[in-house]
Amino acid sequence: MRYLGIIEKYRQFLPVNSNTKIISLNEGNTPLIKADNIKDFLKVKFNIFLKYEGLNPTGSFKDRGMTMAITKAVEDGAKAVICASTGNTSASSAAYSARAGIKSVVLIPDGNIALGKLSQAMLYNAIVIAIKGNFDEALSLVKDISKRMSLVLVNSINPFRIEGQKTGAFEIVDDLGEAPDYHFMPVGNAGNITAYWKGYKEYREKGFSKKLPKMMGYEASGAAPIVLGKIVKNPETIATAIRIGNPASWDKAVKAKEESGGQIDCVTDEEILKAYKMLASLEGVFCEPASSSSLAGLIKYINSGKMIPDNSNVVCILTGNGLKDPNNAINNSPDIIKTEPNILDLETILVRKL
Ligand code: F0G
Repeated sequence: MRYLGIIEKYRQFLPVNSNTKIISLNEGNTPLIKADNIKDFLKVKFNIFLKYEGLNPTGSFKDRGMTMAITKAVEDGAKAVICASTGNTSASSAAYSARAGIKSVVLIPDGNIALGKLSQAMLYNAIVIAIKGNFDEALSLVKDISKRMSLVLVNSINPFRIEGQKTGAFEIVDDLGEAPDYHFMPVGNAGNITAYWKGYKEYREKGFSKKLPKMMGYEASGAAPIVLGKIVKNPETIATAIRIGNPASWDKAVKAKEESGGQIDCVTDEEILKAYKMLASLEGVFCEPASSSSLAGLIKYINSGKMIPDNSNVVCILTGNGLKDPNNAINNSPDIIKTEPNILDLETILVRKL
């Protein structure tokens, strides 16, 4: 049967009925890629899987939540939605709103959003407003204005976003036949860790798995309010997607960590970029910098002497596609080689390089 997106696939777990008009771009069904080259490189004896969420229709995991949020907004008669975003939420909201024929307003932190994400929101025809402030300030503004102007807020404090995003956990369990032992992921506004934990728990309650993973969440060191236990006023990191100092789902992230026996820690920009390059050069998987904080977290964890038992299944969520952020890709790669169109010059270069 033709794949029709996460709502059709997991309808029984989601708040829709037979009259609900589903707004979908056939999101979800993303690959769980076994990373044996990284496993060998790290000299570990457990299995590493990459859940490549960058293959969603707008290139990030946000589409799972947005298909639900926009479907429900339309069901409730909304004509416009609004969000604050470090980029991916805005791209997703703009795309699903276009599909639904409603307006999407997006507030972004001026100058701190990857180029690909900005181009998406613009071409999907959202009303794009850049504020001279950070994500936390944008979120506070959209919360207030959504009440004043009856706009539907589609940030992850909208519970339908969490409902949609929990299907990532279902897919992992469906693929592995059981929940993984460890689940590593980036943490920004903390909606996704909340969603995955809800998904794993619900799937187990329904008998689709017997165990639950340890939830291992990673903030960027310069934007690590949960790790520090206090709001970060001026968050800074190269991973602009998770440049957040006051996460909306803070408490729920802590709860996921505590209930699962996991941890929330942080990784430096250097560690993030190292994992980013490792994913691309060892596995051919191109994700954005924020996404690689899951693998960076795993590497930090094992380097700190923590043992992950042999043959465990470890999943790293790669939340967004690397194409969204071409500047970081180019800036963190070797220079391109320029030459005249001449076979001898070409041969000299290749002899040296190969
Ligand atoms: N990875 C990427 C690529 C993201 O875009 C985000 C969040 C996260 C991880 C963190 O997920 O917020 O649920 O903890 N991006 C939001 C946005 C904030 O506006 O696109 P989270």
